[in-house]
Amino acid sequence: MKKYLIFGLILGFVACNSYKDALQTAYPTAWKVKRLPATSQNLAGNPEAGLDYLLHGDYIGSGIPYAVFKGGEQRIKKKFPYELEGKTDAPYFINVFEAYNGAKVVSGNCFTCHAAPIGDELLAGVGRYASDYRANLAMPNAIVKTFVRKRYDKGTKEREAFELISKYTDAISPMVELPQIGINPATRLAEACMQHRDPVDLTYRAELQYPAIDYNIASDVPPLWNVKKKNTLYYTGIGRGDFSKLLMQAVVLGIPDSTYARKVQERFVDVLAWLHTLEAPKYPYEIDQDLAAKGEVLFEEHCSKCHGTYGEEEIYPNKLVSVNLVKTDPLYADYAMDTKLHDWYNKSWFATTYPASSLIAEYGYIAPPLDGIWATAPYLHNASVPTLDDLLNSENRPTYWKRDWEKYDFDEAKVGWKYEAKNSGTGKYTFDTTIPGYGNQGHYFGDKLKTAERKAVIEYLKTL
Ligand code: HEC
Ligand code: HEC
Repeated sequence: MKKYLIFGLILGFVACNSYKDALQTAYPTAWKVKRLPATSQNLAGNPEAGLDYLLHGDYIGSGIPYAVFKGGEQRIKKKFPYELEGKTDAPYFINVFEAYNGAKVVSGNCFTCHAAPIGDELLAGVGRYASDYRANLAMPNAIVKTFVRKRYDKGTKEREAFELISKYTDAISPMVELPQIGINPATRLAEACMQHRDPVDLTYRAELQYPAIDYNIASDVPPLWNVKKKNTLYYTGIGRGDFSKLLMQAVVLGIPDSTYARKVQERFVDVLAWLHTLEAPKYPYEIDQDLAAKGEVLFEEHCSKCHGTYGEEEIYPNKLVSVNLVKTDPLYADYAMDTKLHDWYNKSWFATTYPASSLIAEYGYIAPPLDGIWATAPYLHNASVPTLDDLLNSENRPTYWKRDWEKYDFDEAKVGWKYEAKNSGTGKYTFDTTIPGYGNQGHYFGDKLKTAERKAVIEYLKTL
């Protein structure tokens, strides 16, 4: 018993230290707020074709043989009983398609992370707030591997298509295991896969192309209906240049090479067109319009210079705010400054072939558009604040908070998730803001409002 305890302490010590060693913190910036300019985008795609491609398309390139998946399908459907339009043959977040070599396979799609129940309906485009990456994927992956290898001989198409995606699943397993529910490791997923790809032709490389940071960072998942207003993508504004290339980054999970990537990119012009048709969901409960009108005046005084104006005269200024000014948890921005993933990306097929995209970190967080903000709790890039009322009154933010993650449990009074404040972060479903990267500090702009003013601003936010 004692032996294990000591071992655990050593491990704990190493784990606690590694994030500090892994990331340089606090970069000075000479600027406080900067406007990020637009780049021209190809918006000539077909929206319906874009949605169809997202739900049925072959953009992941390879996957698990369809016949193997078939057995577990009903179990998955039982756990996720929602449907998205046009979907018949599999759970909404799984695509059945022909892999690069013709094998019939399945893999996850974008809606694994970019759809969630709002009310009784599954809403495409809202972030999956119940993301849960606490389990290590190595074990389930090993089980599937044994199964597939037994069933399909070497040289069969199914076996080959599986072996390709399986190499990437092995690579990501240790890099996406997270300390708590409610956060999403998409950035790490990209980092892990790109580590194993040749930057020019995107083929698999066993040897690592760059060292990874030794800390599994994660974030909230932003809503996709804001893409049409944005000049750059991602919480840190790092996604620059052509959006079709940035949007398709998940392909590094399974495509064979850059020739395949090119075909996918052409289809992602349609995906971008579909994203431009997305609208923020309307607030479904009652709104006090007089109070909201008062809130609008206050919003324009205190918030618009960063978040823009709404209604008749919509202006979204695309501002990147220095971490040193917004003072929210810096670790995600530190990570963006330190990761070697961006160097790889900026010399890769994604950056060096037409239409070019790049990843450029400047140590800030984007002040996002607030359309449909009522539906996108929890708040901040790290999902640390459960309601708008708490966001605009920093003293009230809970250090530890618990909710029923799988349930849409809306708090009309505070606008966001119903939650229970706890005294410690030990509970399985408790969000712990003391874990490095998930601090709920910063964005103190609502603190100066009087209670009645804050209420009015929140009422106005419901109308966006
Ligand atoms: C494993 C979960 C996951 C999958 C799968 C995934 N995403 Fe994301 N996506 C995220 C997370 C998390 C972010 C936030 C990262 C950040 O901003 O730093 C994000 C950010 C984005 C953004 C930027 C939005 C903004 O406002 O800046 C777009 C657009 C996007 N994803 C589209 C897609 C598309 C299209 C696919 C499928 C090809 C996809 N995503 C697959 C988790 C995922
Ligand atoms: C100096 C610029 C600035 C001002 C002023 C400002 N904000 Fe923000 N706001 C930001 C930034 C930057 C973020 C993102 C911070 C992060 O995610 O770490 C943000 C985030 C938010 C979010 C959470 C968005 C999300 O999707 O999680 C809300 C809501 C919000 N602000 C509302 C307001 C309101 C209301 C006001 C006025 C009382 C205001 N802000 C004033 C810069 C600003």
